[in-house]
Amino acid sequence: MRILITGGSGFIGQALCPVLLSEGHELLVVSRHPARSAKRLPSGIQFKTSVAACADFEPEAIVNLAGEPIANRRWSQAQKTKLIESRTTTTASLVDLVAQATTKPKVFVSGSAVGFYGACGSEPVTEDSAAGEGFAHELCAQWEAAAERARPYVERLCVIRIGLVLDQPGGMLDRMVPPFRLGLGGRFGSGRQCMPWIHRTDMVRIIAWLINHPTANGAFNASAPSPVDNATFSKALARHLNRPAVFPVPEFVLKTAFGEMSELMLEGACMVPQRLLDGGFEFSYPTLDQALAEIVSR
Ligand SMILES: NC(=O)c1ccc[n+]([C@@H]2O[C@H](COP(=O)([O-])OP(=O)(O)OC[C@H]3O[C@@H](n4cnc5c(N)ncnc54)[C@H](OP(=O)(O)O)[C@@H]3O)[C@@H](O)[C@H]2O)c1
Repeated sequence: MRILITGGSGFIGQALCPVLLSEGHELLVVSRHPARSAKRLPSGIQFKTSVAACADFEPEAIVNLAGEPIANRRWSQAQKTKLIESRTTTTASLVDLVAQATTKPKVFVSGSAVGFYGACGSEPVTEDSAAGEGFAHELCAQWEAAAERARPYVERLCVIRIGLVLDQPGGMLDRMVPPFRLGLGGRFGSGRQCMPWIHRTDMVRIIAWLINHPTANGAFNASAPSPVDNATFSKALARHLNRPAVFPVPEFVLKTAFGEMSELMLEGACMVPQRLLDGGFEFSYPTLDQALAEIVSR
């Protein structure tokens, strides 16, 4: 298949592209920095600097992952606008592309995140659960609404509500592991907030499954079937690194240091991948211990 990927140079994309290439697909990655992205990705991939420049490619599948990193800077009003617009603008240009295509793409897989559900306590959250509140919800809701406009022009539209993607190097573990290695790790706040997580290998397998699964359509929670709370996550990470987890970070410290962005650390939803499980998707790393054992052992 001819597959167009935005954000293909990122943490997920760097693992996704080699897998899709190995399945025999032809890839075009949209990147603002093609030379830098080419160094991160295997050879044999085409690059364009904008979606508008991809019209001749006539994609059969689209994977939409591009967006300003969510946790790199404090959420000032300007940064919030950038977080939203980097996603909605890219997505809108993909809608323009498919609206003008001569052949309907078979599938459009578009990103979103667990933040869609807001803070939900410890109740399991499936794709049928109500949407939440807060900036993370607003960001995801606008991103999903932008993707929804592609629906008339594609055979299937799949939205992936992604949990915390685990692997190294890169991603959230790159920030968490150093203090834990020094024995300075611990839970955030009460530690009761849920942390739906997913091994990057399974994240990639989910995207490939959605591309290849002819009946997959709509929203999918993309996280492992066994979400844990933050305290359990911290203890598991410390155990796999053979360190204690005895330094909890109080809520007020996170709020002072990160402002509104601390909601990413202090709030969560117990997201479960109900529609993937119902569809027969099998996780390679269904438990946190299996995922961390594989990542830390490398
Ligand atoms: N990783 C996670 O744990 C996680 C969890 C939930 C949701 N997600 C979402 O899933 C998507 C992919 O995740 P990821 O971890 O692979 O992201 P990432 O590593 O931050 O990469 C995303 C890509 O987006 C492009 N990008 C960055 N800033 C941009 C901007 N201001 N405007 C346009 N494009 C920009 C970059 O590509 P170029 O530099 O090549 O243009 C970058 O490689 C992201 O949108 C992320 O929010 C990720």
